[in-house]
Amino acid sequence: MTDIGLHVVVLAAGKGTRMSSTRHKVLHGINGRTMLSHVLAVARSASPTSITVVLGHMADIVRATYRDDLSVQFVVQEPQLGTGHALLQALPLLAGARGDVLLLYGDVPLLSAATVAALLARHRDDRAAATVLTADLDQPFGYGRIVRQDGAIARIVEERDATPAQRAITEVNAGIYALALEPLADAIAALAPQNVQGEYYLPDLIGIYRRRGLGVSTFRVRSADEIRGVNSRRDLAEVSRLVRNAKNEELLAAGVTLIDPATTYVEADVQVGADTVLHPNVYLEGRTIIGVACEIHAGTRLVNATVGDRVTIRNYCVITDSTVESDAVLGPFAHLRPGSLVQSEALVGNFVELKKATLGRKSKASHLTYLGDATIGDNVNIGAGTITCNYDGTHKHQTVIGDGAFIGSDSQLIAPVTIGKGAYVAAGSSITDDVPDQALAITRGRQVNKEGWARRKKR
Ligand code: UD1
Ligand code: CA
Repeated sequence: MTDIGLHVVVLAAGKGTRMSSTRHKVLHGINGRTMLSHVLAVARSASPTSITVVLGHMADIVRATYRDDLSVQFVVQEPQLGTGHALLQALPLLAGARGDVLLLYGDVPLLSAATVAALLARHRDDRAAATVLTADLDQPFGYGRIVRQDGAIARIVEERDATPAQRAITEVNAGIYALALEPLADAIAALAPQNVQGEYYLPDLIGIYRRRGLGVSTFRVRSADEIRGVNSRRDLAEVSRLVRNAKNEELLAAGVTLIDPATTYVEADVQVGADTVLHPNVYLEGRTIIGVACEIHAGTRLVNATVGDRVTIRNYCVITDSTVESDAVLGPFAHLRPGSLVQSEALVGNFVELKKATLGRKSKASHLTYLGDATIGDNVNIGAGTITCNYDGTHKHQTVIGDGAFIGSDSQLIAPVTIGKGAYVAAGSSITDDVPDQALAITRGRQVNKEGWARRKKR
């Protein structure tokens, strides 16, 4: 059966010179996703049969970045002779396919799924050969202009090739099109580089179609922000702000309190439960998931963190690739490094660092502590200044602490070592051997008081 699907083609072969970057333009991040991933997400919203990305410059790096994404195929355009030439490179991959092409740009990341759906609906309703996404701009400089005759689109003229009268037109070409596959190959072959830049202009297709009597429709985007292209770091910053604002609006609508949305940074894939309060300068990144009714205070950064319900995270905590269960309390100034688990109702206080460590239910490590490669049971008290000495200079070793144990302040637990259930470690001890359940371990030197010593010294 021949498919009559939708085939997305994303143009991303341009050099992106104005970014002044050694990184490919579409690999720059926008609120936690690459620019290209934003475009691929909107492409997927249209349920396409295939997605083809046209690369040029630094093709190998982009390809490598997406090597696990089997839904995307790549084609290289070399040299880059214009947008028409770029689409031409993708056509061999669509040989035998029927249906429509949706043409997107890798550097136009704000386009919404709703706009794509509306463009495709217009295209199908009108049974058009091509449908052009257009926008009305107060400052149309730099864009191709939509030239209409008797209301219908006649052709598109580029800024550089436009007459002064055409430059006054405010309806511009967004550069995004729905194109029926059937007349496409033949028309692309008719493109000629007869313009100021000597390029094969894809927009020239519209004039060709009209001259051939084929139907061309337009769909005008509601918000011009959606078609903003990213060409510079300034564009990147502005587009990032818009994406961030949209994410924050989503959170507000879902019942999350943002004390100051302007200084709350929540990346695209993060989830936050209702009645959670985010204070200013909170950064939630990666695949972070936060439950309901949590309070996250200022200056905290969470990367790929999973946080339960009713968790309090006080100021200036950093949590990476770790889990915090419900009703736990952290901070201020707590640091959970990768592989840490803080179980429910546990307390991690100020200047406490965990790495690959589990702190059990209702256990407390309240002050100035390092717990690395450690498994700590429930209802354990870790005294101030406790250190798990997990590294012997070559290897890392485990510390295990049983339920209900009490570790006195300023103790060193020299791993590998196990502290039994209900055992006590006296303050100031260096523990090198396992401590049985219910035992007291004490390793410090006995105190000697020398009466009158100070008085004698002064003489
Ligand atoms: C293009 C349109 C213009 C439209 C504008 C909207 C043309 C000739 N002009 O202009 O009508 O108003 O977009 O933003 O199409 N690319 C390739 N290969 C190439 C050239 C470009 O893949 O050989 C890619 C670029 O990486 C970019 C996109 O196509 O993602 C647009 O190219 P660009 O040079 O920025 O076109 P504009 O001059 O902005
Ligand atoms: Ca551009």
